[in-house]
Amino acid sequence: MIITNKKKEVYISMIIDQIQQVMRECGQLLLQADRSQAHIEIKGTSNNLVTKYDKAVQEILQKKLLEIVPGAHFVGEEEAVHESIATGKAFIVDPIDGTANFVKDYKYSAISVAMTQNGKVELGLVYNPYLDEMFTAQRGKGAYCNGKPIHVSNQPLKAGLTLYGSALYYPELIDDSFRLLRKAFDRSMDMRRSGSAALDLCSIAAGRAELFFELRLYPWDFAAGSLIVQEAGGTVTRVEGGEITLTGPCSVLATGSNVDAGFLRE
Ligand code: IPD
Ligand code: CA
Ligand code: CA
Repeated sequence: MIITNKKKEVYISMIIDQIQQVMRECGQLLLQADRSQAHIEIKGTSNNLVTKYDKAVQEILQKKLLEIVPGAHFVGEEEAVHESIATGKAFIVDPIDGTANFVKDYKYSAISVAMTQNGKVELGLVYNPYLDEMFTAQRGKGAYCNGKPIHVSNQPLKAGLTLYGSALYYPELIDDSFRLLRKAFDRSMDMRRSGSAALDLCSIAAGRAELFFELRLYPWDFAAGSLIVQEAGGTVTRVEGGEITLTGPCSVLATGSNVDAGFLRE
């Protein structure tokens, strides 16, 4: 039994190393991208962009992650690759979280990879190539940035930062988003809008901010980041309360250890 567990640990840490290597490779692709040739296209609403780099990174991730874990299912934001994650192992990836930032050369985007087992996130990795920060978490084993343990902030919100996502692809949610933002702003030291939900979650995990919310995100935006927050000692729920879901979109609320976000529901 002990030997089996040891072998499992070695296998998981080997997988984590290999996934990181692939993500770093993808990060290089973003850093060296010729954005004048990015072939920007619009999906759905006019502010929802996709470039040839989103598609290229997803293709690399799909090929290489499935070499690392053969037979795993795959869910990626682009090209409607949405297999069921209910059983066995699955990858949920966002090839570029923060595509608008990438298009604008704002230098704040990430590659996000989660691995699930029977529908539950077991590994979460988010890589910001611009700062060369690799956030990782394995369920039950803590959260790390570049190999160093990270923890959520224990500051109250009045001494803290609110991060929010504007749910910009859903016009019907904009008024509510700003209403909640105003409430959070009034209770915080200040607020920030980064343009990458995955990195916002990592900022909560690393204690750089105290509260994050967005009224609609997809599992590829938050699957990896939510485990990283939880393993760093934080809390992740839907804004209205209840567990986040990996089978479809939902709202996301993440907090440090000294923030009661109940006011968002009042
Ligand atoms: C977006 C970013 C953004 C959030 C949007 C997401 P994308 O992801 O995470 O911060 O506000 O809701 O869709 O489109 O850049 O992958
Ligand atoms: Ca995203
Ligand atoms: Ca994306």
